[in-house]
Amino acid sequence: MKLILTAVLITILLLVSFGCGNISGGTNDNTSEQENSSENDTLDAISLIENNCSRCHNLDRVYVIKAKDQWPIIIDRMVRKSPGLLNEVETTAVVEYFQENYSQ
Ligand code: HEC
Repeated sequence: MKLILTAVLITILLLVSFGCGNISGGTNDNTSEQENSSENDTLDAISLIENNCSRCHNLDRVYVIKAKDQWPIIIDRMVRKSPGLLNEVETTAVVEYFQENYSQ
């Protein structure tokens, strides 16, 4: 009888620890999804730049270091040269990308 009880206890313990493993596994999945979505934002900004900013000049002109407060002004000027080039959300993504990666 004791043996059966022990076996049942062990089974319960195993089930509980599997349960916890699954829960933390689920959390990890969520974290990696969030990482992926922020990677996608960066990728979107890069493809927006590559698709829209090489029309009038090459990208060497684009990938230069500027002061952070210059990027919104420059991008705004580019969009005004070519209305509809980027919508508001795209403009913000591109400005943030340059501020993070091409500013001192
Ligand atoms: C309609 C044509 C056109 C498009 C599209 C365009 N540019 Fe320009 N860009 C220009 C011209 C013309 C200049 C030089 C005159 C000036 O600085 O306004 C320039 C200059 C620049 C400069 C140098 C500015 C400085 O002050 O040194 C940067 C950086 C730049 N563009 C980035 C971009 C980015 C980023 C995009 C995409 C969002 C883009 N451009 C799209 C026409 C364009």
